[in-house]
Parts: sequence; structure tokens; C-alpha cells
Amino acid sequence: MVALHVVTLSVRVQIPLVTPKCSINILMKNNYCFDIDVGFEMSLDIIEQFYRNNPDYKEQCCVYNLDLKTVDTRLLAFLEPLDLTISHSEIICTPAHHMLPLHIDTGQANNDTKINWVVGNDSPIDWWIPNDSKNRDVIANQSGYNYIAYERSECTKVWSHVIGNPSIINSGIPHSVDNDTDNVRVCYTNVLFNKKKNERLQWQDAVGIFAPWIK
Ligand SMILES: [Fe+2]
Repeated sequence: MVALHVVTLSVRVQIPLVTPKCSINILMKNNYCFDIDVGFEMSLDIIEQFYRNNPDYKEQCCVYNLDLKTVDTRLLAFLEPLDLTISHSEIICTPAHHMLPLHIDTGQANNDTKINWVVGNDSPIDWWIPNDSKNRDVIANQSGYNYIAYERSECTKVWSHVIGNPSIINSGIPHSVDNDTDNVRVCYTNVLFNKKKNERLQWQDAVGIFAPWIK
């Protein structure tokens, strides 16, 4: 279990009194992914340091844990007035012409929400709904974290989205990536933690909290 990294910041972010740019209808229907405007560009320092430390990152699908100290302080400052923080940070690489298999990010179905950036690749995330309710095995990944895998033949694709700059995503519903390009897909992904509820941020709460910034 990753210890919660609490950072006290003096920077305050004003919550804008604006309505979301997309319709309420879409907000209600989309259970998977939204682009949001956090007001700053992601620092490439984290990615470049990752490249230096993992020169074989293009070779295989892999999940790399990042130290929470590397999380951009501007992101933490953006989240702080929303009573949110980051409880886990990682980079997931999908090499050229590889697939990231269908999975959910933990050992049980939920609506855990993450904030993602993708570098240099427009391959979308696809979301799927299982065609049955049978239990699947819980598997541990290379980092020791549990996930559940699904067979494509047992699921129906319901949503597809190219990650924005950044996007919030629902990681508790089966999802996958098909990288049909000649470039590795590098996804910088952070688990959002709801400090008020002392739990990972759930999608139904995330949509309300991030509504002013949804594009
Ligand atoms: Fe995932």
C-alpha cells in the first residue's frame, strides 16, 4: 500500500464560477473519461527522468511506480482546494503495435478516478462492459498491485477517448489500449484521493468536483 503523501502548499487556486462547457446530458451519460483544463502544461521533466532511468521502456508493456515526491506541485496546488490529492503515481508504457490488455486497475470493480497525460501518441483508451457477471481472478502486476483482466470476447466496447491534456478517467471499468502506431505510448497516470471521504475519488464525485474545468 502506498503511503499518502501530504503536501502543504501556500498556492491557492480560485474555483471559477462557470458551468461546464459540455451539456449536463453528456455529463450524466459519460461514465468513462473527460478532458479537463488544469491551467498549466505538464512538466516534461518527470517523463525525461523516467526515460533516463528506464532506457528499455519501449520494449514491453510495463507499469513503473513513481515516487510521490515527483508529483508536480502545480497539480497538487490545483487539487488542494478541492480536498483532493494524489495517492499513487505511475507511468504505463504500451510499445508500438502492442495492446494493453483489458483490465481494471484494482482487485474489484469500482469507479476509481485517475488523472492522465499521454506523451506523443493519439491511441485512445477503450472502455468495455463484461457480457456476464461471473467473477474473474485477481492478478498482481509487476509492481505488486492487484488488477483484474478480462477477455475481449467476453466484453462489449462502449466508449473510446484519446487522452487530453489532461483527462480524468474511470479506471474501475474494464479498459484497454491498442497502440497501432510506430511510437511507444507513454501514459503518466495519477490516482486521485478524496481527502474529505478518505477514499480514492469515485467517478460520481469526480464529475461534480471537476465540472467547472471539464472541456
Ligand atoms: Fe488501467
